Amino acid sequence: MAAPLAAEASSLKLGYYKKTCRGWENVVKYHVAKAIKANRGVGAALVRLIFHDCFVRGCDASVLLDPTPWNPHTEKTAPINIGLAGFELIDEIKAALEERCPGTVSCSDIVVFAARDASSLLSNGHVHFDPPAGRLDGTVSLAADAQRDLPDSTFTIGELIRNFRRKNFTIEELVILSGAHAVGVGHCSSFRGRLTAPPSQIVPEYRNLLSAKCAAGPDPVVPNNVRDENPAAVAASFPSFVKKLRKFSFLDNSYYHNNQARIVTFNSDWQLLTEKEARGHVKEYADNGTLWDEDFSEALVKLSKLPMPPHSKGEIRKHCRVVNDHY
Ligand code: HEM
Repeated sequence: MAAPLAAEASSLKLGYYKKTCRGWENVVKYHVAKAIKANRGVGAALVRLIFHDCFVRGCDASVLLDPTPWNPHTEKTAPINIGLAGFELIDEIKAALEERCPGTVSCSDIVVFAARDASSLLSNGHVHFDPPAGRLDGTVSLAADAQRDLPDSTFTIGELIRNFRRKNFTIEELVILSGAHAVGVGHCSSFRGRLTAPPSQIVPEYRNLLSAKCAAGPDPVVPNNVRDENPAAVAASFPSFVKKLRKFSFLDNSYYHNNQARIVTFNSDWQLLTEKEARGHVKEYADNGTLWDEDFSEALVKLSKLPMPPHSKGEIRKHCRVVNDHY
């Protein structure tokens, strides 16, 4: 078995697999496009997955490891990772790549490039970037690390800023990356406190809409972007919004318009309006969608370069859910 390698961020480069796995990017793109065509929700899951992987021990696919008897509390079991999805699609891509070039492409590179393709497809090509490759897969995955490093939706603006600063991300980048909440879904338990928040924080019609949907079961999911809601629910609680509904979810700067209008789900979204610099950037990106497309692309590249902790060992996993030692 190949010995684990030292993981150094500096070894990332563009075209890393040019000689060892020609065409690998097309394999990723093919599978991501097929999955999104069947269900755009998978695209949102991939955009979240890169964040939840890279913010915890760097981009090392530690979020993909399944719990086992010898490590029962991997990152994906952490409460903060509620609703995380896309794992089957990553498995499918990995299997296709193992067939093409065995033992060559890391799961962490797959996570990054799948998120790249998902954000491009969900934005109709407006979000586009070329990340370097050459990441290694980590062998450590602990729920406690995810709980410590990922921001919670109940955080105040101060907590959000500190959380991002710890990873060397600015207030502006916090605002830029939060724009990903233009797509996807959230569980009611992730915004329970918003159902009783005052109108200065959330438009009462939208709050009623969320309350009605959340009454439907123990912990249902609702779209993050009211634009993606089903028309009947919006007609019942928030009729003035019916004309803004879209046929399919789209990744654009609508999050900033919604935020200014106080129609976003999470407390952490609203919190961006409570600090001067963050509020200024919310306005800036509401006013300039093209700028957001570009800045979001850049911020995702920066996210994709977050390194593993110093002196960590990495490997190219054979299967993304399990470290090679136990495969
Ligand atoms: C700023 C701090 C952030 C907080 C507090 C936060 C919190 C959350 C929460 C609570 C959910 C819903 C989970 C659930 O209940 O199922 C969610 C969903 C999501 N988040 Fe974030 N998030 C943050 C930043 C980000 C960033 C930086 C990205 C990506 C760049 C991102 C992308 C997403 C996406 C795409 C979804 C929907 C996922 C799906 O539909 O499968 N979030 N986020």
